[in-house]
Amino acid sequence: MPRLRLGVLISGRGSNLQALIDACADPAYPAEIVSVISDRAEAPGLAIAAAAGISGVAIRHRDRPAFASEASALLREQRAGLVCLAGFMRVLDTAFVEAWQDKMVNIHPSLLPAFPGLHPQRQALAAGVRFSGCTVHFVRPEVDAGPIIAQAVVPIRPGDDEARLAARILAVEHRLYPLAVRLIAEGRVRVVADTVEIDGWQAPTITVLNPVEPPGERLAATLASL
Ligand code: GRF
Repeated sequence: MPRLRLGVLISGRGSNLQALIDACADPAYPAEIVSVISDRAEAPGLAIAAAAGISGVAIRHRDRPAFASEASALLREQRAGLVCLAGFMRVLDTAFVEAWQDKMVNIHPSLLPAFPGLHPQRQALAAGVRFSGCTVHFVRPEVDAGPIIAQAVVPIRPGDDEARLAARILAVEHRLYPLAVRLIAEGRVRVVADTVEIDGWQAPTITVLNPVEPPGERLAATLASL
């Protein structure tokens, strides 16, 4: 089966791009990166693409339609089948989003629909939630909205600050994004009535409490559930 051709859009650091590059380095992985596009010429992610021998292009963002038309031309030229937003920090032209409906995905460091937009880790800490995490979703014109493909949960720890929480979530993003792209590339992901169905979907069996229960209570709860 031919590998799914990925176009990756970035604005900065590129650690999720690196995670996708690492996944694609395995010949058994069902996708390959054919194009990296940045809206900033100085994005460190462009050097990551170059180091991996992937064609990377900076498109200066004059306005949304102009950026969209240049990006579309590049993606078409490279015959991309899926666009992955990986730290792309702009709102995209609506016509571009509609043209790539269910063929464009994004990763966001919160459990959407909670905390869309900027500084989601800061938002999570301010809200006092006990779990945050990250989400991979299909892109819709509204910011950080669209059918959810995969999520990972990261517990908040006592004394967490934004940087510590962001680092723990980022480490999980690097596992979740390649997983979600793999499922799409394997043809197992369908959007049905604005939610996602995945063939052969297996959910984890564990339930996690935060704060954790004292060991005695945990044992009693475990025995009660048997
Ligand atoms: C990640 O946290 C991603 O979820 C968000 O922007 C950040 C990009 O980081 N959309 P990187 O450029 O992939 O390192």
